[in-house]
Amino acid sequence: MSAAIIDGKAFAARVRAQVAGHVARLAAGGLVPGLAVVLVGDDPASAVYVRNKGIQTKEAGMASFEHRLPAETSEAELLGLIAALNADPAVHGILVQLPLPKHLDPDLVINAIDPAKDVDGFHISNVGLLGTGQKAMVPCTPLGCLMLLRDRHGSLAGMEAVVIGRSNIVGKPMAQLLLGDSCTVTIAHSRTRNLPEVCRRADILVAAVGRPEMVKGDWIRPGATVIDVGINRVPGEGGTSRIVGDVDFASAAAVAGAITPVPGGVGPMTIACLLANTLTACCRANGLPEPEGLTP
Ligand code: GUN
Repeated sequence: MSAAIIDGKAFAARVRAQVAGHVARLAAGGLVPGLAVVLVGDDPASAVYVRNKGIQTKEAGMASFEHRLPAETSEAELLGLIAALNADPAVHGILVQLPLPKHLDPDLVINAIDPAKDVDGFHISNVGLLGTGQKAMVPCTPLGCLMLLRDRHGSLAGMEAVVIGRSNIVGKPMAQLLLGDSCTVTIAHSRTRNLPEVCRRADILVAAVGRPEMVKGDWIRPGATVIDVGINRVPGEGGTSRIVGDVDFASAAAVAGAITPVPGGVGPMTIACLLANTLTACCRANGLPEPEGLTP
């Protein structure tokens, strides 16, 4: 069997176009959704992500506010900026890029963001709302994965889902979203016994462990849908490097029913969902109906 390739790049472009259409209608009425992105320090990978977020925010017709702070920024300074962004009516979404420099406590910083503007969905209020099935801001990467899965399967009810990875950014919220769609969910991780055997249960396998090409073809149930969240840089030929996922694509694609490639699968969905969340936050803040299909 050869798996269908799930084209996240094309799907993300459709989400961005849908967001841009809504933004244009809001802007015609004088309301421009705004996203503030805060980058502390000079982590090169984070700088690339932040630049791409700014570009795509503007392309969608939204206002982009970028705040680049030096690595030695104090906690009080960062909290002061967040308080100002919380109070700014032109800002509907706030994202503080992680990881933060070591001297800053990410939990304290994230929980200082107004939950209604927390477009990452990392604030404890949003985590609790998602966990109790209430209306929340939902983390972007798992939301993107859910959109791809619903697009492929329609209803996910009753499906066996295995999520490898228990991070607050992907693994845990992914499991909550799948549970919300009535999957039978297993969260596996680095200490799980018989991991390949656990994975073979899955109709839906989500790999978010950060280990290059860890998931092999013989871990996959024939016909399963495989969502690869990994973005790992590994040495390539002739001193170059290349990006691979957490799934060994060649062996997995021979067994799976459908699979996301890396790059071009989940990756582009993350920023598309960030834009969707910013639009949702703007609509909620202004008492407007939420666009359909952009929230869980
Ligand atoms: N760093 C890596 N992924 C993310 C993300 O989704 N949000 C934020 N704020 N930082 C990140």
